Amino acid sequence: MSRPIIIDCDPGHDDAIALILACASPELDIKAVTTSAGNQTPEKTLHNALRILTLVGRTDIPVAGGALQPLSRELIIADNVHGETGLDGPVLPEPAFDPQPCHAVELMAKILKEATEPVTLVPTGPLTNIALLLATHRELHSQIDSIVLMGGAAEVGNWTPAAEFNIYVDPEAADIVFKSGIPIAMCGLDVTHRAQIMDEDIERIRKINNPVAQVTAELLDFFMIYHRDPKWGFEGAPLHDPCTIAWLLEPELFASINCWVGIETQGNHTLGMTVVDRYQLTDNPINTTVLFDVNRQGFVDLLAERLTNY
Ligand code: BDR
Ligand code: CA
Repeated sequence: MSRPIIIDCDPGHDDAIALILACASPELDIKAVTTSAGNQTPEKTLHNALRILTLVGRTDIPVAGGALQPLSRELIIADNVHGETGLDGPVLPEPAFDPQPCHAVELMAKILKEATEPVTLVPTGPLTNIALLLATHRELHSQIDSIVLMGGAAEVGNWTPAAEFNIYVDPEAADIVFKSGIPIAMCGLDVTHRAQIMDEDIERIRKINNPVAQVTAELLDFFMIYHRDPKWGFEGAPLHDPCTIAWLLEPELFASINCWVGIETQGNHTLGMTVVDRYQLTDNPINTTVLFDVNRQGFVDLLAERLTNY
């Protein structure tokens, strides 16, 4: 039996690779793809999700665009990482299908209502849509198995010294999600910075003889550019968002600790920080499985092997 999931994303190079990995994995039943504003404007992230699903031949998956901006802040985009289109680099097909004529929250709610078993939500962008869903449909919480998200960090941030991009863009939304009581798995920078893809891995992917693998290699070529700055201390590029899908497929690749996580929505220097009580220093109840480490080679092998399915 495949596991029902909804992916809420802001493609974005690593979101696109998460979609490609998920679509190549029969263990997952992708009930919908919804898009959030984040790496690029909401119009562009929606367009990009449609383009990637067209590329992989999954025009059967319903897609809907979500909130146009964070709950109570101006939108910040990451065009310095992902370029003008949000998916700069490869030549991608134009969408061969239309989005659903409804909001992302309506589509997610419909799928949860109709689901015969609890559905896992997989957000890989700012949490605006997920927060709106949870706040407006309390009756559907029991239809959600868990939330497996990319965001946050127990240690350093990547957008500010304290905050990771997805949480920083909409901290109020993240606060709602982490207080929801729904089990959360957090693929934060602690793990994603260890899930680096190296030049030789990209060449391995380029040698896989199908168009989806070629596009993946070209997405990675572009994604590498931003991460080559020596200030990061990386050898490769951190493949953030695909960690969520890899966790669902092969959790044994990861090391995790169950912790309380809270969101800083006020801080002067720490807005958007995920405060992780790794050593149980408070009595705050555990709400999150925090991923801290990954078998990098196993992670890359998983991606490369699944790409041969295309
Ligand atoms: C996150 O921010 C985005 O740029 C990536 O797609 C990823 O979801 C990493 O901080
Ligand atoms: Ca993302």
